[in-house]
Amino acid sequence: MQPEFALFPEKASTLAARVDALYYFLIAVSGFFATLIFLLVIYFAVKYRRRSATEQPQPIEGDLRLELLWTILPFGLAMIMFGWGANLYFSASRAPSDALNLYVVGKQWMWKIQHPEGRREINELHVPVGQPVKLTMTSEDVIHSFFIPAFRMKMDVVPGRYTTTWFEATKAGEYHLFCAEYCGTKHSQMIGRIVVMEPVQYEQWLKNGNGTASMLGEAPEVAGARLFQEQRCVTCHGADVGGVKLGPSLIGLFGKTVQLQSGESVTADEGYIRESILNPMAKLVAGYQPIMPTYQGQIDEEGLLQLIAYIRSPGKTAEPAGETRAEQ
Ligand code: CUA
Repeated sequence: MQPEFALFPEKASTLAARVDALYYFLIAVSGFFATLIFLLVIYFAVKYRRRSATEQPQPIEGDLRLELLWTILPFGLAMIMFGWGANLYFSASRAPSDALNLYVVGKQWMWKIQHPEGRREINELHVPVGQPVKLTMTSEDVIHSFFIPAFRMKMDVVPGRYTTTWFEATKAGEYHLFCAEYCGTKHSQMIGRIVVMEPVQYEQWLKNGNGTASMLGEAPEVAGARLFQEQRCVTCHGADVGGVKLGPSLIGLFGKTVQLQSGESVTADEGYIRESILNPMAKLVAGYQPIMPTYQGQIDEEGLLQLIAYIRSPGKTAEPAGETRAEQ
C-alpha cells in the first residue's frame, strides 16, 4: 500500500497499465480541445472586436471544408475511443479459462471469500502473483461493489444474481479493497486488503490456517456434494431407479447448452443453475415434468455457490457414488 499521497494508485495487475493508457488518452484529448477552444475564444474576441460604432459584420454563407473537418475529426476520435474502450472492456470481462475460481459473498458490512481448496477469509483476499483469478460474486442483502484500485478492477455485487470479474496480479504486496457502492451505515468500513503472494507462499498459506483453523473449511465442491445429499437433490438428479429419471442428470452439465420445454435453449452457467434451484419452473428442461420444489430460503448464498462448485467440478457425479464423497 502506498503510504504517501499519490495521484494514481499503484499498478499491480495486467490490466492496470492498459486502463491507465486509455485514461491518459481521454485526458489528453479533452485537455487539448479545452485549451484550443479557450485560446480561440480569446483570439477571435480580440480579432473580430467591433472597431467603430457603425461597423457591420459580413454575413457568412458557410464553408464545406470546415463542415467536413469538424464532423469527420470528432467522429474519428469518438470511434477510436469506442474501439479502444470496447477492446479493454472485453479483456476485463472475459476470464482466461485457466483462472482460479473464487467465490465472493458480500453482506452488510463484510466480504466473505472462499478459495477452491476450501480456505475461507473475511475482508481479506490472498492470491498468487502471475495467476489469473476469477471471482463469482453475489450479495446477501443490498448492492455492494468490489473495488481494487491497484488492479483497476471494480464490479457490482448484486443480490439475486451473479456477477463475475477477473484479474491477474503482477506484483507481490498488499493492496486496498473497498466497497464502492453506498450500502448503509457502515459502508465506509466495508474495506479489506488484498495480499498478493509468490505462488510458493500462497500454497503454504492455503495449507496452514494462519492460526485460524476454523477458516480452513472443506472445499466448496465437497461441501456442495454434501448439500446435494442432504437436500435430497440426488433423489431426482441421481441414477435412475427402475428406468425412470425424475430430473435431468447434472453430469457434465456445466457450460453446456440446455434445451428447454419452451423450445428455447440456455447455457448452463452459474446464473442458470442458481435460478433453477430457487425457481425451478422458470426454465423447465425439455422432457421433464414441473415437479421440482423451490429451495428458496432453504439454501443460503454460500450453499448455492457450493452446489454450483460441485456441479461444475470435473469429477462431478450425481450417481450414488456421491454418498462416499459426502463422507470424506
Ligand atoms: Cu458494501 Cu458499500
